[in-house]
Formats: sequence, structure tokens, C-alpha cells
Amino acid sequence: MAKRIFFYLFSGTGNTFLLYRSVRKAFEEAGYVCEAQWISRKKEYGHSSGDIIGILVPVAVQSTFPFIFDFLRAFPGGDNELFFLDTLGAYSGGLLGPVKKILSAKGYFTAAAQEIVMPSNFFKNGRNPEEEEKTRRKGLEEGRRFVRDFLNGEKKWPRDSFWSPVMQAFSGSSLLWKMLRKKYRFTVDPGTCIRCGRCLSLCPVENITMEEIPCFAGRCEFCLRCVTFCPTGAISVKGEDFVPYRAVEYDDFSLS
Ligand SMILES: Cc1cc2nc3c(=O)[nH]c(=O)nc-3n(C[C@H](O)[C@H](O)[C@H](O)COP(=O)(O)O)c2cc1C
Repeated sequence: MAKRIFFYLFSGTGNTFLLYRSVRKAFEEAGYVCEAQWISRKKEYGHSSGDIIGILVPVAVQSTFPFIFDFLRAFPGGDNELFFLDTLGAYSGGLLGPVKKILSAKGYFTAAAQEIVMPSNFFKNGRNPEEEEKTRRKGLEEGRRFVRDFLNGEKKWPRDSFWSPVMQAFSGSSLLWKMLRKKYRFTVDPGTCIRCGRCLSLCPVENITMEEIPCFAGRCEFCLRCVTFCPTGAISVKGEDFVPYRAVEYDDFSLS
């Protein structure tokens, strides 16, 4: 029977999703069967013993989003082989070491990991689509190379710096996220919003409810999915003049 890869992934603006698609295709071409599940606040785990597990996430504030760490901390125990990929604009530092520690302690064989540079989706008031496309292509190529080297047993889990647990603790601290929520406040233009509810269904932390217009509670982790995939561009950040980033169209943003 063909060996199965079970992916857990999250993507706010499409970079990690594109990487998943490219990596999945490379595994399928090598004869693997693949299944995938989004990481969200609901802690559901679909893999079976014997699957190879692949986890793909974006970097946020030098590490990753707190809800992703919660998801990893709640993983059931197991001895599956596991690889981890993240996408980032430039630099992390508080991710690979802490993730390895959490999953190794649960019994998993944390075989290989890599960080892959993609265009930064963070708030910017200008964008260069040609440069972004070039960076994406390079990142996806690196992803395919990762699969080839992983299957040849040539990939390892890189050692993280001594400081990585400290950086992860900083990145996950509630004070930091409180400050970010104070600085970046989402607003919805009532004249543009069509009340379609897409932002509610995409939010991984169930932070949005539909009143007259979508309303944001205090749990936002700035993955930017709501802004990226709003069909009318009705969501913006108060006082910030930024051009949203989107690596993939909404109609393609699906795991099946
Ligand atoms: C809130 C936030 C924080 C981020 N922090 C970092 C960071 O510390 N280092 C970095 O290199 N990129 C950072 N980025 C950029 C993203 O990691 C990068 O663009 C990633 O590929 C986005 O993946 P996605 O499109 O799958 O959401 C950040 C982006 C956001 C939205």
C-alpha cells in the first residue's frame, strides 16, 4: 500500500498554501498518497499511525501564531516521522527549536525542517508584484528540493539558537499581542461590506461575529486572512495606509 503524508497547515495570505500545493505535488509524483487538514482553534487531528506528518505554517513575530502553538501543544502522542516547513519574509529565530521540543516530547520522530523565504505579507504601503512573483517561484522551488532531499534521507532538523525558547516566549506573550491589537485595529467600511460572512468563516481564532457589519473581538492574531480574501476590500486597518498581499485567489484557496 502507498505510504501516506498527512499535512497540517495554516496560511493567512496564501504563501504557505502555495508551498503546501507544491510540496504535496512533489510527494504525489514520488508515489505518496496525501491528505491535508487546516490548523485552527478546533483541535482535531486526522493522521493515523504509520503516516508521515508534514506541518506547514507562516512565521509571525519571529515565531508563529499563538493558536498554532496551542494546536501543536495539544497534539496526541505518537511515533510518526514528521517534517516541518515554515514560510517567512526574512527571519524567525523562535520557531524550529521550540516546535521540535514540543513534538519530540510527544514521541514523534522530528526528522527534518526548513524555513522558506516568500514575500512578506506584513503591512506595507507599496508592493512590487514582479519581485514578489520571483521570490515565490524561488521559494516553491526550494520546497520541491526539500521533498527530494527528504526522501533521499538528506534533510535534517537544523539546530536553533540558544535564544530560541526566549524568543518564542516573547512572541507568544499576551502583552505583545495586546500591544499589537492596540496598534492595528481592523475596521469595516459599512458601505462596501456585503455581509457575505467570508471573514467569519476564514478566521482561525473565531474572532469575528456578524452584527450590522462584521465585528472584531479581542482575539485577533493578525494572520490577515479576513483582509486578504474579503471580496470587496471592505476591511482595512485604522490609520494604516497599506496594500494587502495575496498569493492566491480565494477560489483556489482550498485543500481538496
Ligand atoms: C503578524 C505578522 C508577523 C510577521 N512576522 C514575521 C517575522 O517575524 N519574520 C519574518 O521573516 N516574516 C514575518 N512575517 C511575514 C510572513 O511570515 C510571511 O509573509 C509568510 O510567508 C506569510 O505566509 P502566509 O501567506 O501563508 O500567511 C509576518 C507576517 C505577519 C502578518
